[in-house]
Amino acid sequence: MSRIAFHLCFMGLLLSSTVLRNVDGHAWKRQLPMPCKNLVLYFHDILYNGKNIHNATAALVAAPAWGNLTTFAEPFKFGDVVVFDDPITLDNNLHSPPVGRAQGFYLYNMKTTYNAWLGFTFVLNSTDYKGTITFNGADPPLVKYRDISVVGGTGDFLMARGIATLSTDAIEGNVYFRLRVNITLYECY
Ligand SMILES: *[C@@H]1O[C@H](CO)[C@@H](O)[C@H](O)[C@H]1NC(C)=O
Ligand SMILES: *[C@@H]1O[C@H](CO)[C@@H](O)[C@H](O)[C@H]1NC(C)=O
Ligand SMILES: *[C@@H]1O[C@H](CO)[C@@H](O)[C@H](O)[C@H]1NC(C)=O
Ligand SMILES: *[C@@H]1O[C@H](CO)[C@@H](O)[C@H](O)[C@H]1NC(C)=O
Repeated sequence: MSRIAFHLCFMGLLLSSTVLRNVDGHAWKRQLPMPCKNLVLYFHDILYNGKNIHNATAALVAAPAWGNLTTFAEPFKFGDVVVFDDPITLDNNLHSPPVGRAQGFYLYNMKTTYNAWLGFTFVLNSTDYKGTITFNGADPPLVKYRDISVVGGTGDFLMARGIATLSTDAIEGNVYFRLRVNITLYECY
């Protein structure tokens, strides 16, 4: 690219981002498209605690050198890694017929507060939906609503992109929690 063309290009970018920012009034540079799909699902995580092997859907698989695999490490679970294969339901009842599985892991990565990082896939296999949705993102569990990224999908969710808002719907000690996942897709095919 010639120098002048590059210069023009750069000016163009600068101009368009300024204009759009003014029109929009928000931080993003382009207007978000309307969501093309929205669904709310729940998943249920039962962590192995040394006694519930038949019921557990998640297990500590790594811990810092000062911890172990049946109790969370101190402080703030820092360094613990949990692998899960959790049932997904349409409502908040653990015993409702599952519509799929949430499969992946979370790890705790702060020593000064509870903070998790999630990487997982919803594998959906129901009459309504067949396909997968893959998520990544930071999950500070003490915050009421946490946004994570929808980074892709297959089947009914082919190449999905969007945001999922997580909220903790129930929690029982260190053994059970239920997450509500409000999935908003901005790209659908
Ligand atoms: C499994 O764990 C969940 C959550 O703690 C509990 O509600 C359920 O009754 C348990 N099921 C069995 C069979 O123990
Ligand atoms: C794991 O660590 C906790 C807390 O330090 C301790 O109470 C528990 O006995 C340990 N469990 C095993 C199986 O080592
Ligand atoms: C989806 O469910 C159907 C009917 O229960 C079953 O035959 C099929 O093997 C399942 N597919 C996957 C990928 O789990
Ligand atoms: C899900 O999130 C979207 C986008 O933030 C919001 O408009 C919608 O009301 C939410 N739906 C539910 C059922 O919470």
